[in-house]
Amino acid sequence: MPRQRLIAANWKMYKNPDQTREFFQAFLPLVADHTRDEIVVCPPYTDLHAAVEATTGSNVAIGAQDMYWKEEGAFTGEISPGMLLAAECTHVIIGHSERRQYFGETDDTVNLKLKAALEAGLTPIVCVGEVLEEREAGLTEDVLRRQCLRAFHAISAKKASRLVIAYEPVWAIGTGKTATPQLAAEAHSLIRTEAAKAFGDRLAESMRILYGGSVKPENAKSLMAEEEIDGALVGGASLDAQSFAAIVKY
Ligand code: 13P
Repeated sequence: MPRQRLIAANWKMYKNPDQTREFFQAFLPLVADHTRDEIVVCPPYTDLHAAVEATTGSNVAIGAQDMYWKEEGAFTGEISPGMLLAAECTHVIIGHSERRQYFGETDDTVNLKLKAALEAGLTPIVCVGEVLEEREAGLTEDVLRRQCLRAFHAISAKKASRLVIAYEPVWAIGTGKTATPQLAAEAHSLIRTEAAKAFGDRLAESMRILYGGSVKPENAKSLMAEEEIDGALVGGASLDAQSFAAIVKY
């Protein structure tokens, strides 16, 4: 069974509700007849309502960029899996490198969030990837293995069936430097091997591994030509309706 590609937008800290509505007004007609790939947009929390309202009945699903692993409690500033479900989110990004770099996310909190997202019925998009110093020191494989091993800890294959991974080499994020399709495919293959160790061959074979890091309309086609690359997680180029639609239609 070929894996259906997933093209996801990570808006990061951009756009307000009005800008969100404007985006979908322009974007939805451009992809209305697109059935080949799954399309997901992850706006900031404050835009989720506008995004869900704008996309109801369309072929675009809405996700969040993070969540906490507890269901409720005295956790000022946090959002729970149940709250995301109530907001009609279906997907959630977990462990993005910006969360790891600026907000203290660790391999262990990624694991707790992943378990909670799967338990709640959300589709998690777990981000892994090495920083430049790690790549230059020849540590990429070690880093990816460690991130996967810890993220997947104590999760059953049955629970993990919806799991999506995004390989985002940190040196390629927002820098205009894209990993070559070949280099990305190598990393994806290593991640798939780790998934097979944790969850078995069958799940690993059907698990989607997205590439993220300076994906643009100009390079989407060559990246997607790699059999190992099952979609994209797009930052900057997803903020513009035309540009994101061009990536979706690569
Ligand atoms: P850019 O596409 O802006 O490089 O961002 C990638 C990313 O971090 C998506 O999560």
